[in-house]
Amino acid sequence: MNEMTLEVAAVEALTPLIRRIELRDPEGGTLPAFTPGAHLRFQLPLAGGTEQRHYSLVHRQPDAAGLERPGRYVIAVRREAESRGGSAYMHEHVRPGDRLTVEGPINDFPLHEGAGRSVLIAGGIGITPILSMAAALSAAGRDYRFHYSGRSREQLAFVDEIRALAGERLSIHADDEPDTALDLDAVLDGCDPADHLYVCGPKGMIDALIDKARARGWPPEQVHFELFTTAAPAAGDHAFEVECRASGVTLQVAADQTILEAAVAAGLDPLSDCERGECGVCSTEVIEGEVDHRDYYLSDDEKASNSVMQICISRARGDRLVLDL
Ligand code: FES
Repeated sequence: MNEMTLEVAAVEALTPLIRRIELRDPEGGTLPAFTPGAHLRFQLPLAGGTEQRHYSLVHRQPDAAGLERPGRYVIAVRREAESRGGSAYMHEHVRPGDRLTVEGPINDFPLHEGAGRSVLIAGGIGITPILSMAAALSAAGRDYRFHYSGRSREQLAFVDEIRALAGERLSIHADDEPDTALDLDAVLDGCDPADHLYVCGPKGMIDALIDKARARGWPPEQVHFELFTTAAPAAGDHAFEVECRASGVTLQVAADQTILEAAVAAGLDPLSDCERGECGVCSTEVIEGEVDHRDYYLSDDEKASNSVMQICISRARGDRLVLDL
């Protein structure tokens, strides 16, 4: 993984809750190329140690140069009320001139190159990878539709840039305007079977689109998504024990902690990337115990087999798991 130190070049408030942060090479050099949907993995000084946070790269111009030879990287960070520290740090501590350590760019949410129209659906701060896709599709002269949804118009960032890019292809949806609120059934009604769907936003929106697309027989390989949050505690989450058979370590996983977090805190070094249950990197063999699967990576059959799990997000149904970790 390509690790870099970047300098904060500019910070701007786009809405009361969203900050745009520009990053550059401290020596003024060109930054590594990226593709639409890519993100950087930030190493942030949180909770007395270092924690990773992922932020998508924003590309706003319908040209290839900003992707192939970027002079700056742009991210946008929404301040979350339930922040585990990352968004609060990016809002309260990051200033022009600061230096941040990042890895990447990494792309787990790429655009499909084949036939079929792209239907882009962004919810809230999920706009960041979707905007980059619209810019790339516009540059390539490819057809697309763009649905951008939020609680209210005032909370939507980058609207002017998107309107300039997408024109008539853009539909704005605001939850507080009943006439415009996002209706996923209506979106799917307007799609062709060859279309590819790209959705980024809150878990509820992604789950609803996946369920509706599946109910209509939509090919899963044409439904692309990226969650914008890491593992969030759910009602009823409980503490449990994990015996790591390969390393001989036993973890006590707190109710508000993931197995991955507990393993890292215990000095283990398991592989991980997205920490949202999407990329598959943290797949771990299950030796004993029943898993509460919460990922989007494993197939239904793999989940039913109870032989493998994503330790960044999935948990134990009972009090104990034994893993090949
Ligand atoms: S780190 Fe990506 S699925 Fe767990």
